[in-house]
Amino acid sequence: MRTIAWLMLITFLASAPVVAQRLSDQTSAAAKAHFIENLLRQMTTEEKIGQLRLNCIGVQSPREQLLEEAAASRLGGIFYAVGRADLREFQDAALRSRLKIPLFFAYDVIHGHRTIFPIGIGLASTWDTGAITLAGRIAAQEASADGLDMVFSPMVDITRDPRWGRASEGWGEDAWLSALYTSTMVQALQGSTLGAAGNVMASAKHFALYGAPEGGRDYNSVDMSLPRMYQDYLPPYHAAVKAGVGAMMLTYIAINGVPATSNTWLIRDLLRKQWRFKGLIISDFNAVADLVSHGVASTDREAAMLAIRAGLNMSMSDTLFRDELPGLLRSGAVSQEEVDDAVREVLGAKYDLGLFADPYLRIGAAKDDPADIHAETRMHREQARDVARKSLVLLKNQRNALPLDKSARIAVVGPLAKSRLDILGNWSSIATSAQAVSVYDGIAHALDAPDRLLYARGADVTDDPRILDYLNVPGANPADVEVDPRSPTRMLQEAVDVARQADVVVAVVGESRGMSYEGASRASLGLPGYQARLISALKATGKPLVLVLMNGRPLSIGKEHDMADAVLETWYSGTEGGNAIADVLFGDYNPSGKLPITFPRSVGQVPTYYNHLNTSKPPQADAPRAVASRYIDEQNGPLYPFGFGLSYTQFSLSDITLTRQSLKRGEVLGASVVLKNTGQRAGETVVQLYLRDISASISRPVKELKRYQKILLQAGEERTLYFNLSEEDLKFYNAQLEHAAEAGAFSVMIGLDSRDVKERRFELF
Ligand code: NOJ
Repeated sequence: MRTIAWLMLITFLASAPVVAQRLSDQTSAAAKAHFIENLLRQMTTEEKIGQLRLNCIGVQSPREQLLEEAAASRLGGIFYAVGRADLREFQDAALRSRLKIPLFFAYDVIHGHRTIFPIGIGLASTWDTGAITLAGRIAAQEASADGLDMVFSPMVDITRDPRWGRASEGWGEDAWLSALYTSTMVQALQGSTLGAAGNVMASAKHFALYGAPEGGRDYNSVDMSLPRMYQDYLPPYHAAVKAGVGAMMLTYIAINGVPATSNTWLIRDLLRKQWRFKGLIISDFNAVADLVSHGVASTDREAAMLAIRAGLNMSMSDTLFRDELPGLLRSGAVSQEEVDDAVREVLGAKYDLGLFADPYLRIGAAKDDPADIHAETRMHREQARDVARKSLVLLKNQRNALPLDKSARIAVVGPLAKSRLDILGNWSSIATSAQAVSVYDGIAHALDAPDRLLYARGADVTDDPRILDYLNVPGANPADVEVDPRSPTRMLQEAVDVARQADVVVAVVGESRGMSYEGASRASLGLPGYQARLISALKATGKPLVLVLMNGRPLSIGKEHDMADAVLETWYSGTEGGNAIADVLFGDYNPSGKLPITFPRSVGQVPTYYNHLNTSKPPQADAPRAVASRYIDEQNGPLYPFGFGLSYTQFSLSDITLTRQSLKRGEVLGASVVLKNTGQRAGETVVQLYLRDISASISRPVKELKRYQKILLQAGEERTLYFNLSEEDLKFYNAQLEHAAEAGAFSVMIGLDSRDVKERRFELF
C-alpha cells in the first residue's frame, strides 16, 4: 500500500512540470486569442485587408506609397528592405495608423545574412546538425540585428533532378535526411522563443513539391502519386510543421493540375487539418496573380477569390488582395469569416514575434544603430570557415595528389578561382563580395611563399550567348558571368604556359552562381563553355591536376573525373570559402563531407537517385547482354553516389552484427558494426544505415537512409557503432496512404556511402 502511495507521489511530482507547462501554454494561448479577437473587433474591412499584404519597394509600389499605406493600416509586412534606420521609418509610419498595428519585416536569408555560409546543398553535405544549427543561429542573430523579423527559409524542397537550378538551395534528394535538417534549421532560426530579439520566424518553403517540376524546368508542373508524395517529398515540410515553424510559403507550381496558391486540398486538408499547422501561410512572389497564367482563374478578381478561399493568408507582392477583396466581400463571393481567419494568422504571427509588446524589438533604438553596417565586427568568420570546411566533399584523390605541399609551385587556373562573388552563391542576402575570400585568396593566405603561386584565368565560365543574355543584366556591375576580352585560344595558351611552370595545377571550374538559381534550369550538365577544353589542355601538360568544383547542382563530369588526379566539390562555400578550401587542399583540415544528392553520369539518366525501385528487370552483372532496365549507351548508376565522400585517411567497416534475426512489433533490433581508421591520420566519416523492405504490398526502394553517425577516429583507432531499429523505421505509406510496417523480410545495410554497403537480413512478424 505504502509503495503504491510513494509511486503515485513520484509519478505526480515527475509529471508536475509537464502539467504546469501545459497550463501555462494554455493560458498564453488564451491570452493571445483574447488579444487578437479584441483587435479584430476594432478593425475596419480596409484595415483587415491591409494586413493580408506583404509588399516590397518596387515599380508598382514606390517607397513613399508604401510609407503612406503603412500609416493608413493598409500593409501587413514588408520584405526586401533591410537596415534598422530604414525599417524604423516604416514602423514609425505603421504606428501612426489608427490601431497602431506594427508591421513585420522579412527577407531572403537563406544561408547567412552578412556572413554567408555554404548554400543549402553544401550545408547538407556536412551531415552535421551542429554545423547547420550554428549557421542558422548566426543567420538569425545577424538578420535580427538588422531589424528583420522573418526569414524566407529554410528551403526544403527535395529534388532528384539536377537540371533544376534550385537544387542548390535545398537539402538534396533524401526525405529522411531533409526532414532532419529542416527541423534543425527551423529550431536554430526560431530559437526557444520567437518573442526575443536574436530569434526570427522561419518561413519554410516552397509548399509543396517545388523540387519535382517536369523536365527539371523551373515553375513547370508536377504530376505525382499520393504514396510518392507522402513517402518521398512531403516529409521535410511536415518536419517543419512538427518543429513549430511560424510560417509556410506556398510554391508557384501546379500539383496534379491545381496551383498550390489555390489548392484547397494542399492548404486546408493536408497542412491545416492533417498536420495541424497553426502558423501563417504566405504566397510566393506574385503567385496570386499567376493563377491567371496557370489558367485556373480568368480574371484577377477570380484569382484573389480562389486564393483566399483555398486558405492563403497573405499575398506576396501583387496588389490583388488590396484591389479585389473589397468587391469580393461585397458580392458575397468571399465571406467575412474567410478574411477574418486570414487576418487572425497575420496578427498571430506578429503576436508570436513579440511585436505587439515591442514593435521595435529587433529594430532597436536609433542611438544603437551600427555606424557601419558592413563592419568586420559584425561578421562571424571563424564559424563560417568551420562550417564551410565541413561542407567540402572529396570525390577523387589518386596517388595522394592531395593534400598539397605548401612549398610546391602551384598554378591556380580557372574562371572561378578569383571570384569573390560566385563563392557567395545565390541568395547571398546582403553580404558584400568585397568581404568574401576567393579560392585564390585562400591559397595565397595559406602559402609559406606566395611568390610560388601562379595564376591564369584559362577560360570564361561560359560564352554561350543565350546564357549571357539571360544572366548578365545590362548595366549590372559586376556582371554575373564576366567575359574576358581576350580570345579563348589566348586564355587557354596562357593557362597551359602557367601550368608548365608549376609542380601542380589547381583548376577552379564550374558554374557562375547565377547558373544555379531560381529560373536557371539547364538542359545539359557538363562544364559550360570552354572549361572542358581547358581541363583537357591542362591534363596534356602532364602535371598533377586537382579540380576544385564550384557549382550549385550535380554536374555530369565523367571525362573530367577521369583526367583529374583529385576532385573536390566545394559548392558555393560562402564568405570564408576560400580559406576553408585552402584548409582542405593543404591538409590542415581532413575532408569529411558526403554528397546529399547523386551525381549522374549523363543528363540522359536524370532523374538518378539512390532510393529507386528495383523494376521487373534489374541489370545483372553476370548476364550483361540480357534485356534489362538500362540504357544501351550508358551504364546504370551514378558517377558519384548519394552519401559518397573521401577522406585523407581510410576506413574499414566490419560485417554487421544483429541482436536478433526476427523482430516482433514493440521490440528493438540492434545492428552494430566496427569502424576502423586504417590510415595514417585522424579523420571523420559518416556511417550510414539503410533499410530495404524486400517484398511488400507496393514495390519498395532498393534502399532508404534511416540513420547515420558521423565519427572522428584517430589513426589506427576502431570503434563499435550501435544502431537501434524498431517497427517505426520499417513503416511506409501504402496505396491506401496508411503508414504501416508490413510483416516479412527486410535488409539492413550499412556503409560509408549508399553504393558500397554490408548487408544482413531479418524478419518482421
Ligand atoms: C521567389 C522565390 O521563389 C522565393 O524563394 C523567394 O523567397 C521569394 N521570391 C521572395 O524573394
